[in-house]
Amino acid sequence: MPLAEFEASAAGVDRAVTLPPGAYTRTDFHEFELAAVFERSWLCVGRADEIPEPGDYFTATLPGGEKVIAVRDRGGGINVMSSVCQHRGMCVTAPAKQARESWLDEPGEQRGSVRTFRCPYHWWTYGLDGRLLGAPDMDHRPGFDKGDIRLPALASETWNGFIFANFDPGAEPLAPRLAKATELLANYRLNEMVSTPRDVLDLPFNWKIMVENFMEGYHNDRLHQDLYDLDRGDDPDTENLTAGHMSFEYEPGSGVIAGWGRTACRDRGLNPTQRGLFPPIATLTDEERWHMCYVCVPPSLLLGVSTDSAFWFVVTPTGPETLTLSMSFTFPRSTAEMRLFDQLFRQHVDGVNLFNDEDMPANIATQRGLRSRYAPRGPLARGDLFLAQFNTWLLERYRAAEAR
Ligand code: FES
Ligand SMILES: [Fe+2]
Repeated sequence: MPLAEFEASAAGVDRAVTLPPGAYTRTDFHEFELAAVFERSWLCVGRADEIPEPGDYFTATLPGGEKVIAVRDRGGGINVMSSVCQHRGMCVTAPAKQARESWLDEPGEQRGSVRTFRCPYHWWTYGLDGRLLGAPDMDHRPGFDKGDIRLPALASETWNGFIFANFDPGAEPLAPRLAKATELLANYRLNEMVSTPRDVLDLPFNWKIMVENFMEGYHNDRLHQDLYDLDRGDDPDTENLTAGHMSFEYEPGSGVIAGWGRTACRDRGLNPTQRGLFPPIATLTDEERWHMCYVCVPPSLLLGVSTDSAFWFVVTPTGPETLTLSMSFTFPRSTAEMRLFDQLFRQHVDGVNLFNDEDMPANIATQRGLRSRYAPRGPLARGDLFLAQFNTWLLERYRAAEAR
């Protein structure tokens, strides 16, 4: 697929068209995209509050099937490293035993708290920083030096409580490229929040369809006509249903796409009544208490922020037409410790699922449509603004890969 074909998708929203359908379906393009986008971008793996104490860890599977560990070390920092044992390649966090019915199943992600990581196979033992600490019965081997061996480290960085990793050891730091979003989100104090357990779904559509669906506001008043209530502002033109959306200009090299909308009520909640069940975040301005923010740190973090909490998705492609979606919510600690939190949280999740029950079937049907001989390169609407920005971000990566 010549990259010149993508230029028409990375124009201003009034001229841009959707990406070539093959970008959502073709295996060769998927391979290219893994190298062009995922090998060099900052990828969200989870939240720092999921591993509060030294030794706390969770595993994640990055695009390309790489298994990594995020672990809190003794000094309070966070390390992201491969879980592939450097003896003969077993996964150091894999279970030591699996029942016959599940031998062939990929074991799910692990989490726990450890002093060291001991590979179940031959008991090589690694520290929380990945260094090899012990290797039984290796003294016979001339020149064997534990100091030469470690679990391979990825570059890592934490932003607003989200842990990011990068396969590229020379990657430019992430935070400077997120400055606008840092400012937008400052009063939400996301880095002080705590997260709920993850819900993980395997879904049959291209990862970009998930990003597009999350970010574009065009469908909100249509597909979700009964659920959505963004304020249309003073615009008397009822066709202009996306007037309540505001966004940043996308600047070349930016690491974030973000926007916000003014909701029809103050302190809007995500539960079906739309009235907030949880206390608003104490540090918000009055204006912010009317906002709902949507932030994408492409390619993998999607973040929705409301006045009492945030929800976040980690998007991981598993093939050209499949992805894993890991979903969680974060709340101020004082909210998560409320006596009725569990009951209220169930209502909150129900509210998000009302959207998911409309969005996910739309995404699945879109993937089917993009396989058709009649698949379009359709014109973007004003409410599709974020797609034009996302396409621009993508094309920057595709072009850089081609230049390499
Ligand atoms: S493969 Fe890990 S100790 Fe041998
Ligand atoms: Fe939606």
